[in-house]
Amino acid sequence: MMILRQPRYNATRRVKTLNTADIAAYIDANRDEFMAQLFEFLRIPSISTDPVYADDVRRCANWLVDHLEDIGMQTVELHDTEGHPVVYAEWLSEKEDAPTLLLYGHYDVQPPDPLDEWETAPFDPTIRDGKIYARGATDDKGQLFAHLKALDAWLSTVGELPINFKVLLEGEEEVGSAHLPAFIAENKEKLAADAVVISDSPMFAKGVPSIVYGLRGLAYLEMTVRGASHDLHSGLFGGAVPNPINELSKIVAALHDESGRVTIPGFYDNIVPLDDEERRAFAELPFDEEEFQRESGVPKLVGEEGYTTLERIWARPTLDCNGIWGGFTGEGAKTVLPARAHAKFSCRLVANQDPDDIAKKAQDWVAELASDAVEVEVRVFHGGPPVLTDRDNPTVRAACRALTRVWDEEAVFTRGGGSIPVVATFSEVLEVPTVLMGFGLDDDRLHSPNEKFNVENFYAGIRAAAFLLEEAAR
Ligand code: BES
Ligand code: MN
Ligand code: MN
Repeated sequence: MMILRQPRYNATRRVKTLNTADIAAYIDANRDEFMAQLFEFLRIPSISTDPVYADDVRRCANWLVDHLEDIGMQTVELHDTEGHPVVYAEWLSEKEDAPTLLLYGHYDVQPPDPLDEWETAPFDPTIRDGKIYARGATDDKGQLFAHLKALDAWLSTVGELPINFKVLLEGEEEVGSAHLPAFIAENKEKLAADAVVISDSPMFAKGVPSIVYGLRGLAYLEMTVRGASHDLHSGLFGGAVPNPINELSKIVAALHDESGRVTIPGFYDNIVPLDDEERRAFAELPFDEEEFQRESGVPKLVGEEGYTTLERIWARPTLDCNGIWGGFTGEGAKTVLPARAHAKFSCRLVANQDPDDIAKKAQDWVAELASDAVEVEVRVFHGGPPVLTDRDNPTVRAACRALTRVWDEEAVFTRGGGSIPVVATFSEVLEVPTVLMGFGLDDDRLHSPNEKFNVENFYAGIRAAAFLLEEAAR
C-alpha cells in the first residue's frame, strides 16, 4: 500500500535569483531549530533488526514523510514493503535540461547494546564537547538529515531547487536492505537520475573532506557444531566423546594462516588488486597509524602480510568471527561437556568477489575442516556485494567543488571498509553512478556505544549538501 499525500508546498513562495549567501545565512540563522529537529529524529528508536521496534521504525518513516512535506517537497510517499517502509520524495524543476540527483540514506539504526556502556541514553540525544551523542547520530540519521536541511534552505530562501532532486530513504540498511532492490527494480522510472548521492561514510580526517570510491561487500554466516545429543558430565564422558566447542575452535583457528590470509580455497580468486597509483595515493594520505591503534584500544595492529593498514581495511578481503557461544557461561564452574557450539563469522569482500559464491566456498571449507566426530552446519545470512565507483563524472566533480567550498581543502579519494549493500543495485539496475560524500569521522563509534556526530560536521554537511545542488546545476 502506498500513502500519497498532497504537498504542503506553497507555490506563492517568493522566488529569488540564485543566492547562496542567503542560503548560508538561513542555515546559520536556523542552527538551533535544525538541531532540535535532528534531536526529534534521533529520539525515535528505529532499530530495524529487532521486531519489537517495528512500530518505531514505521513511526520514524512517518516522521520523515511529515518533515519532507514541511520543507516543501512536491511529492512525498510512504511505500510499504515486506519489511520496513521506504520513504520517497521529489522536487522536479521546470527547467528543461536540469540534471537529477537521487539522495539515498537509511533511517534505521543498529541496536544500542551494550546499554550500560553509554554515558547518556542512546535515544536521548545530548551534546557534549561539540558532539551529538545518540544512536544514529552519524549512521545515518545525522548525515542524511543534513541533506534535508539543505533542501529546506533552498526552498525557504530561493523558493526552488536548481536541479531535480529525488529522495529515497530506507529502514532496512542495517539488516542488509533485503527489500530495497525489488523496490528499485519496480520503480526504475520514478527513480531515474544522473547520479545517486549518499552521505553515510566518514571523512578521511577532521577538516579533510573525502569522496569514498570503494566499499567492501559482506558475506555473513553462522556455524553450529553438534556433538552429543545432550549436555554430558565432563568427568564421565570427557576424553572419549567429541567436544563441539573444541572442534569449533579448531575450525575457527584454521580459517587464517600464519601470514594473516584467509584459507578458504578460492577466496582470493579474481579479486581486483589495488593498482600502483591507488597504493601510492593511499600512502600519501596523512594517516596516523598510532592514533588509529589508540582509538581501537589494542596493543598492536595485525593483518594480512604485505599490506598497509589502510590497504587492509579498505581494499583487502577479510574474515572475522563476530560471536561465539556454547556450553556453560554462567557464574562459577560447571563441569559439562556441551552438546553444541556456535559461531557467527563474516567476510568483508572486495571487487569481483560475490557474496553468494564466497558463502558457498566458506560452507564447503568448514565442512572439509570439520572432524567427522561432530555434525557441522553453516547457515548463510544477508550479505552485500562490494563496489568500486566512478572517480570522474560531473557529479563527482560537483561534489568535490561543494566540499572544497565548505572545508577550504581539496577532497581526497578514499575507500571505506564498511558496506552499503544497495550501492551495487544503483549501478546494476538504475545504471547510474553513486557519489559517496560522507560527513562523519572515523572515531564516531558507529555501531558502538556512545555513537556521536560532530556538531560542526552537521552544519558543514548542510552547507556542502546545499552547495552540491548549485554545483550540479552548473
Ligand atoms: N554506514 C555504514 C557503512 C559504512 C561504514 C561505509 C564505514 C563506509 C565506512 C552502514 O550503515 C553499515 O553499517 N553497513 C553494514 C552493512 C551490513 C549490515 C549489510 C556494515 O558495513 O556492516
Ligand atoms: Mn550507515
Ligand atoms: Mn551502519
